[in-house]
Amino acid sequence: MNNPTINLTNLNSKRRTNRKIILLTGASKGLGLALAKKLIQGDEYFLVLTARKASMKRFEGESIFNSEFVWLRSLDVLNYQQTENVIAEVVEKLGNVDILINNAGITDRSTVEDSTDSYRKTQMAVNYLAPFHMIEHVLSLMRKNNYGKIINISSAGGFMAMPTMSSYSASKYALEAASESLWYEMKPWNIHVTLIIPGFIDSEGFENTTESRKCEKSCINQLSTYHEHYIGMKQLISNRMHQSHSTNETIAKQIDRVLKKDNPPLRIYVTLDAWLLFWFRKLMPPKIYHFVIYRFLPRVKRWGKQVYKE
Ligand SMILES: NC(=O)c1ccc[n+]([C@@H]2O[C@H](COP(=O)([O-])OP(=O)(O)OC[C@H]3O[C@@H](n4cnc5c(N)ncnc54)[C@H](OP(=O)(O)O)[C@@H]3O)[C@@H](O)[C@H]2O)c1
Repeated sequence: MNNPTINLTNLNSKRRTNRKIILLTGASKGLGLALAKKLIQGDEYFLVLTARKASMKRFEGESIFNSEFVWLRSLDVLNYQQTENVIAEVVEKLGNVDILINNAGITDRSTVEDSTDSYRKTQMAVNYLAPFHMIEHVLSLMRKNNYGKIINISSAGGFMAMPTMSSYSASKYALEAASESLWYEMKPWNIHVTLIIPGFIDSEGFENTTESRKCEKSCINQLSTYHEHYIGMKQLISNRMHQSHSTNETIAKQIDRVLKKDNPPLRIYVTLDAWLLFWFRKLMPPKIYHFVIYRFLPRVKRWGKQVYKE
């Protein structure tokens, strides 16, 4: 049975620590884990690290988190009751949430035709709706304190959409747009909203991609309509990731620096490719931009040439 929704304003919110309290989602691996390891090194923060229940065991070997300034909590961001319970516990026992970092994210690979409503909804639910559910539940506290930082991990996919990545891009575009609205809304209360925008990171991130059933089949079947689309895009992403000079650790350092700024900007491009692609898109006439991107897609000359046999 679901608990009744918790009213945060009725909770006793006496601050119990001088450290800034950070609530981080998706801390079990990848960028989230690297960030948690970076942030615990100083003495400024109290970390509430969250991860899905099944992933909590990944913290077991990490002695760095055996600290009185770290809490480990199970949180699936799709479970709103769990989200509200974690926030309520933090407020009740620590007194506040100073910094919220929405890092948890998923990547779906599928062409539009091979995708389904359910894939599209899950992608939007994790990458856009869940971060904003978290945000909705910390804003009144932050306003009361006249202080807060909200860091949303976006992506180059949040300003440019690539083939086979439509749902991922749609979710990151949504995250970007809503964060921009929030940036204006929160100005009077000293609450800073920042989008961290990586391009490719030399990591396992895109290897954790979920694929629609049709995508899985098409990758194997050379005669399927979108076989070349998938193989080309997989190759491109894998090559670019492994050639990247950015790692989860270098991005974590940049986020740490952003947290120390009094007035961080709304958008920060944290990899060279994200920065270059942003300017390329901004400066090129749209027709040229789309032509060049299309022209350089791997195996694009083979697209649409197969003798289809589904
Ligand atoms: N890697 C890149 O090249 C890249 C580029 C641009 C942007 N980004 C963004 O960076 C962020 C971190 O990605 P990453 O590369 O570190 O990916 P990752 O290694 O796959 O890690 C994703 C994290 O999100 C968590 N997560 C997924 N669904 C969740 C849910 N329903 N509830 C709670 N946690 C959930 C995962 O938990 P589990 O361990 O339980 O699965 C994991 O901790 C994402 O927002 C991603 O879009 C990454």
